[in-house]
Amino acid sequence: MDNTVLRNRFRDMFGHEGDLYFSPGRINLIGEHTDYNGGFVFPGAIDKGITAEICRNGSRKVRLLAIDIEEDNYVEFSLDDTDKPSRHWACYIFGVCKELEKRGVHPGGFNAAFSGDIPLGAGLSSSAALESVFAFALNAMFADGRVDKFELAKIGQATEHNYCGVKCGIMDQFASVFGRKGCLIRLDCRSLEYEYFPFNPTGYDLVLIDSCVKHSLGTEYNERRESCENAVAAMNRLFGGVETLRDADYSMLDAVKDEISGTDYLRARYVLDEKERVLTVCDALNKGDYELVGRKMYETHWGLSHDYTASCPELDFLVETARECGVTGSRMMGGGFGGCSINLVRRTLRDNFISRATREYSRKFGIIPKVYRVITGDGSRKL
Ligand code: GLA
Repeated sequence: MDNTVLRNRFRDMFGHEGDLYFSPGRINLIGEHTDYNGGFVFPGAIDKGITAEICRNGSRKVRLLAIDIEEDNYVEFSLDDTDKPSRHWACYIFGVCKELEKRGVHPGGFNAAFSGDIPLGAGLSSSAALESVFAFALNAMFADGRVDKFELAKIGQATEHNYCGVKCGIMDQFASVFGRKGCLIRLDCRSLEYEYFPFNPTGYDLVLIDSCVKHSLGTEYNERRESCENAVAAMNRLFGGVETLRDADYSMLDAVKDEISGTDYLRARYVLDEKERVLTVCDALNKGDYELVGRKMYETHWGLSHDYTASCPELDFLVETARECGVTGSRMMGGGFGGCSINLVRRTLRDNFISRATREYSRKFGIIPKVYRVITGDGSRKL
């Protein structure tokens, strides 16, 4: 990303220069809505994200300029404030400061400007990139990097929970902090054990198609999580020892079918299915069997659309179009309700798929979808 505009705007606003830090957005090959259920996910960081220029200002004030936002893009708060700022975007940074303090790191005041090349609301975790870039930078500036990377990811997640109203899992922040160029990461969200998987499928590309339906995770996301928790509570009453859906199987779920709502049952069943799919995909990746990976992606989409009810007509249409174009695997990606589809496509079919999907989507929904080729990248860092 060219940081000239960021540099100029920072200098115009604050009259001096700061240091540059970057954190990426993420993709996820498979393992959707499994993270907060103690399951596995398969994300990777991308080469796009959020860059922040930042400098101490010797006071207790935090001064923030959000370059990509047109109105109300300047916010000031004091580190002693207890109420969060009124601008939603500033809550991410306020939250990171507060969560660092809870962990014994006391940031001083700073001036910052930030800008991104990931679209907001496209399901590429711009919010995790924003949290991670500030958690990483403030840790470097005010604690000599003492807080480890796991804790930085947890600071971002806690910010979502406590200041932004989204009860998310750890996947997005983990991928943003831990990303590695050329790799996807298999993460066990219960133990936080992880493994880098070189991902360079010869003859295939990963392509994202942005439905341009803006997703903002909130009530609907939290309701999905509650459904899972309802199923867990019922199984725990009957069997004991069920902390998350990771500890459950189909027979246990069937045993509580009459005690939970039909909606909760279907959602929990989706998670059990997805748990198995992620393991199948790991195995298939080890064998280089991308056709099997692709079939699992379609199955995930079906489950997210019908059982988990986290899709939308636009994403369903994109996935159906992919199938008609012979794309190996396609599904909605991320929290849902909008954002991107992720497509594993043979290189020979790629251009045809992109032009047909663009044409048919525009005709049906009156919007030209954006297309991104995925390139994996490194995690949070100082530039
Ligand atoms: C969002 C959340 C993640 C994860 C995904 C769904 O991106 O932030 O924690 O739950 O949705 O897999």
